Amino acid sequence: MKNLSLGSFLLVVLLHPHFLEARLQVCKPSGKVKGKMPPPDYCHEDDSICCIKGRNYTTYECSPPISRSTKAVLNLNSFEEGGDGGKPSKCDDKYHSDHTPVVALSTGWYSSGSRCLKNITISAKGRSVDAMVVDECDSSMGCDKKHYYLPPCDNNIVDASQAVWRALGVPLDDWGDLDITWTDA
Ligand SMILES: *[C@@H]1O[C@H](CO)[C@@H](O)[C@H](O)[C@H]1NC(C)=O
Ligand SMILES: *[C@@H]1O[C@H](CO)[C@@H](O)[C@H](O)[C@H]1NC(C)=O
Repeated sequence: MKNLSLGSFLLVVLLHPHFLEARLQVCKPSGKVKGKMPPPDYCHEDDSICCIKGRNYTTYECSPPISRSTKAVLNLNSFEEGGDGGKPSKCDDKYHSDHTPVVALSTGWYSSGSRCLKNITISAKGRSVDAMVVDECDSSMGCDKKHYYLPPCDNNIVDASQAVWRALGVPLDDWGDLDITWTDA
């Protein structure tokens, strides 16, 4: 009798929508930004990645929940002076060599800088590498001067230096976009 009522109680709690939502930690969009025509001096390196005028881009303050093996998309970035990032890295206000394994994380995972200068372990295709978090890939804003008229970052991005791609043994031709998993080192 006692067990039955406890069982019913648990069933009610477990199936309650609020509990399910908390369990899944759903990451919902925070808003949208509208693409503007970049001024002539911006975003001419590779037009295909620029914000498109009039197009809506979804923004996120959160990233998918972290597990022991969090799925993400690995992108290529340069944290060197004059590299893609433009400015020095947000965590330490410094530039970082392409030969050093460093990454930027989407806004939710960057977590207001709580992972700054800590390592994460990135795994793909049976190999792994430790890389230091030095920057944010901003999912919360974009398509403005501050973001070089580039769209907001997706919320599941690990933006990595060349050293990370090399350590994972990815052939040069495939650098740029790869499904990976990561965890705090
Ligand atoms: C973009 O979003 C605005 C406001 O939410 C909406 O009115 C508009 O139709 C959207 N435009 C496109 C191209 O989806
Ligand atoms: C982070 O990883 C790098 C190798 O990628 C290593 O040289 C460094 O000592 C590690 N830092 C910490 C704090 O563990």
